[in-house]
Amino acid sequence: MARPKIALIGAGQIGGTLAHLAALKELGDVVLFDIAEGVPQGKALDIAESGPSEKFDAKMKGTNDYADIAGADVCIVTAGVARKPGMSRDDLLGINLKVMKSVGEGIKTHAPKAFVICITNPLDAMVWALQKFSGLPPHMVCGMAGVLDSARFRHFLAEEFDVSMKDVTAFVLGGHGDTMVPSVRYSTVAGIPLPDLIEMGWTTKEKMDAIVQRTRDGGAEIVGLLKTGSAFYAPATSAIEMAEAFLKDQKRVLPCAAYCDGEFGLKKTYVGVPTVIGKGGIERIVEIKLTKDEQAMFDNSVAAVKGLVDACKAIDESLA
Ligand code: APR
Repeated sequence: MARPKIALIGAGQIGGTLAHLAALKELGDVVLFDIAEGVPQGKALDIAESGPSEKFDAKMKGTNDYADIAGADVCIVTAGVARKPGMSRDDLLGINLKVMKSVGEGIKTHAPKAFVICITNPLDAMVWALQKFSGLPPHMVCGMAGVLDSARFRHFLAEEFDVSMKDVTAFVLGGHGDTMVPSVRYSTVAGIPLPDLIEMGWTTKEKMDAIVQRTRDGGAEIVGLLKTGSAFYAPATSAIEMAEAFLKDQKRVLPCAAYCDGEFGLKKTYVGVPTVIGKGGIERIVEIKLTKDEQAMFDNSVAAVKGLVDACKAIDESLA
């Protein structure tokens, strides 16, 4: 059986890391696409040359021609510009919207059957625009944010409790921005919800509030440290987890920016919600019950995403 084909649109910091991880995990043959000449070719060759030591069987190709992504099973999109210190994800909107248009057209023409994972920010608005520009079915187009945001939350919790991160589960809902909603109630250590752990004296409400805020600011914390770009190791790992769920039909329950039309009372909106990812793409949206407070935070986050989508419509009339 032929190996799956993974197309990475954007061969920058995240794109290169995605290619390396896909190779190490032998998820399939990789095509790295970028508009910068030489960069995808150089990274593909460099990673291919790590194959003999790592002993993976995967072909690596770098290209500036969309025709090379033909028939891809998965497309992961990181094309665009990343944040610099002082910038919010929303500041990237105008530039990256134009990039989504060309990427959407490339995918529509050459890889219309692919499962598409968008990483480009501002995430929720960009994945919405990418689905519109590509015309692919909404259940085959999603955005990577929740896996990363909950991984950050899990990391901070594991450190706070001094337990293995394997036993920490966490949930983050809403848009991938300052309004995201890390859910304390649905986050656990080995099934014990965080509010119970506060009652048990493992931690305090104040410490949990600080961790929730650090999770919301997780991207900015890294931008502030790197100064020349934004996070790339954990974002790439998170998207690979989603791609693997699709390619291996794992039916993983993962939070991601998914198209809600009816779910959570939303209409034709992309926002972070729990989903099931398998060979059918986003196979199900898990409609958890929210408390009044959680609902208010979720609504606030959805409103922020809508503001960005409206800004996209104002820039590009074809989206209105
Ligand atoms: N088509 C294809 N590639 C493009 C295009 C385009 N129209 N425009 C820019 N690119 C490429 C750039 O040449 C660059 O190689 O996208 C790549 C982006 O890489 P980086 O600048 O290293 O950014 P990265 O850290 O990978 O982040 C990419 O993901 O998390 C988000 O906010 C982040 O929006 C940013 C994206």
